[in-house]
Amino acid sequence: RQRIIVDVDTGVDDSLALLYLLASPDAEIAGIAATAGNVPAGQVAINNLAWLDLVDAPDIEVALGATDPLKIPLRTTEDTHGPQGVGYAELPAPARRISDRSAAQMWVDLARAHPGDLLGLCTGPLTNLALALRIEPELPRLLRRLVIMGGAFNHPGNTTPTNEWNIHVDPEAAKIVFDAFSAAPAHRRPVVCALDITETIEMRPAHLTRLASRAGSFPIETVTPADPPAARSAASNPIIRHVTDAVRFYFDFHHGYDLGYLAHMHDPFAAAVALDPTLARTRPATVDVELAGTLTRATTVADWAGMWGRPPNADIVVATDPDRFFDRLITRIGDY
Ligand code: BDR
Ligand code: CA
Repeated sequence: RQRIIVDVDTGVDDSLALLYLLASPDAEIAGIAATAGNVPAGQVAINNLAWLDLVDAPDIEVALGATDPLKIPLRTTEDTHGPQGVGYAELPAPARRISDRSAAQMWVDLARAHPGDLLGLCTGPLTNLALALRIEPELPRLLRRLVIMGGAFNHPGNTTPTNEWNIHVDPEAAKIVFDAFSAAPAHRRPVVCALDITETIEMRPAHLTRLASRAGSFPIETVTPADPPAARSAASNPIIRHVTDAVRFYFDFHHGYDLGYLAHMHDPFAAAVALDPTLARTRPATVDVELAGTLTRATTVADWAGMWGRPPNADIVVATDPDRFFDRLITRIGDY
């Protein structure tokens, strides 16, 4: 089993990433860090605790991250993920409690406790990890591997013409993280799942139908854009019900931007790659984050050809098999 720390800004797709990992027999979640992003960190923590309750997960620590990015005010995106960050879903108030230590301290303590054996997965802004690096600059050597959902390279942004959301929210933190891996050996280079690849991972209503039937949940609903926007799922399985309500919001959001009635599975894809790197073909590159440009601040730039004369600090995912990913996601979550 792979020991993993997950840093999330839950988030509809973060929710699915969490559920996927929780249902994966090959993953052991050592801790969940809540980062401010899609919604404020406090709400992220509540969402994480609520999903843990819902799937009756064992006692997993949920630590609260910084309330703000390192240098700029927090920007959230309830338009994308719903008022609470879980779309149309209304999760019951959690019974579990948040941890006493901060998210950054949890990163450091877990990495020190399991040197070379802790996998890191970041599916939100990189604020907590940047703060953890301040406490423990050796983190890149202590972690087994880091997988990041973030950035856009040869691909337009989803927040500004060139910015991907997670980097946009805290570009200073992102730069600190990429810089920290500048001397990392090849097997420790962060695996980066950027929009270039995650926007090819399109969940559609048919995937939800498959999920519900796999879970033996009835009635099997066909989610369509014609549904009244706030329609609630009637699924008998509460997990499927809440997932359907969350994802329907995400479909509506993507539909509203003329992307089709679908949802990009950014974060679940990164989670799947963390557990099974064979899902992704990668290419090494030197990644840096623009902090100055008036039009391009928070843009991720990849030097694929060594033009800067700096060694690669990232393995960027350049190809995958979305069907294989969806088979796995549906099997795992459908087995709840
Ligand atoms: C990322 O932004 C967030 O809204 C999603 O959860 C994902 O992590 C995609 O740009
Ligand atoms: Ca996210």
